[in-house]
Amino acid sequence: MTVLIETIGLTKHYQAGEGVVAALKDVSLSITPGNFVAAMGPSGSGKSTFLNLIGCLDSATHGSYRLMNEDVAALSHDRLADLRSRRLGFVFQSFNLLPRADALANVELPLIYRGMPRRQRRERAAEALAAVGLADRMHHRPTQLSGGQQQRVAIARAIVGSPDLILADEPTGALDTRTGLSIMALFQALNQGGVGILMVTHDPDVARYAERVLRFRDGRLIADETQIPANVAKALEALPEADDAA
Ligand SMILES: Nc1ncnc2c1ncn2[C@@H]1O[C@H](COP(=O)(O)OP(=O)(O)OP(=O)(O)O)[C@@H](O)[C@H]1O
Ligand SMILES: [Mg+2]
Repeated sequence: MTVLIETIGLTKHYQAGEGVVAALKDVSLSITPGNFVAAMGPSGSGKSTFLNLIGCLDSATHGSYRLMNEDVAALSHDRLADLRSRRLGFVFQSFNLLPRADALANVELPLIYRGMPRRQRRERAAEALAAVGLADRMHHRPTQLSGGQQQRVAIARAIVGSPDLILADEPTGALDTRTGLSIMALFQALNQGGVGILMVTHDPDVARYAERVLRFRDGRLIADETQIPANVAKALEALPEADDAA
């Protein structure tokens, strides 16, 4: 079976003042293509550290990490950047959109780094925005969009390059319940299309929509369980009526 991600004894130490913080300790796991995984645990338990290592945004102190069978530590800077930009998509709690650029330009950005010609870029970005239900908001800047719409732009930016895995750190943390659910609906739909998702959340109501839950405590992976994902459509139906959609 193909493995998307495999870590063995992944460990991260941070230098902080005089001391050293062991933020992640000896984490071994694999994630297969199309897995929808939620990472949970109390504040400071190492969730973001884990996600940053998986996203190649930071490097491990000990242990190994293979992304699509490539040993990340052995790759050159350019090769790693290329692998990351082709295989991974990122979604953050605070959206991280460029404030002066419209939705289309924000979504195009990862394709610019890939050197894709402008026309093709625009087409792909427009498709990604349509896929998240924002076909009619392409020329709005982030400040002209609701929080849920901004997060959907961020998701369009994450999927525009057809990644194998989306990494999301508290993607619903800044959103109300209904808007958060609409993001989960989007993740479940992407996942059904074969995209893997690794999502950090501290909210059990959000983790219900994943098929696998990792639990971290004090930097250790203390549980790794599969579950039957809850149905987002049902949860949305059960919510009281709202005036405006996300
Ligand atoms: N750059 C850093 N330098 C020093 N220590 C760090 C750094 N980043 C994280 N840490 C420490 O590593 C530990 C794990 O942090 P991490 O951000 O992974 O936690 P988390 O589970 O994501 O928490 P939260 O739910 O609050 O986001 C914490 O004790 C934190 O203080
Ligand atoms: Mg965190």
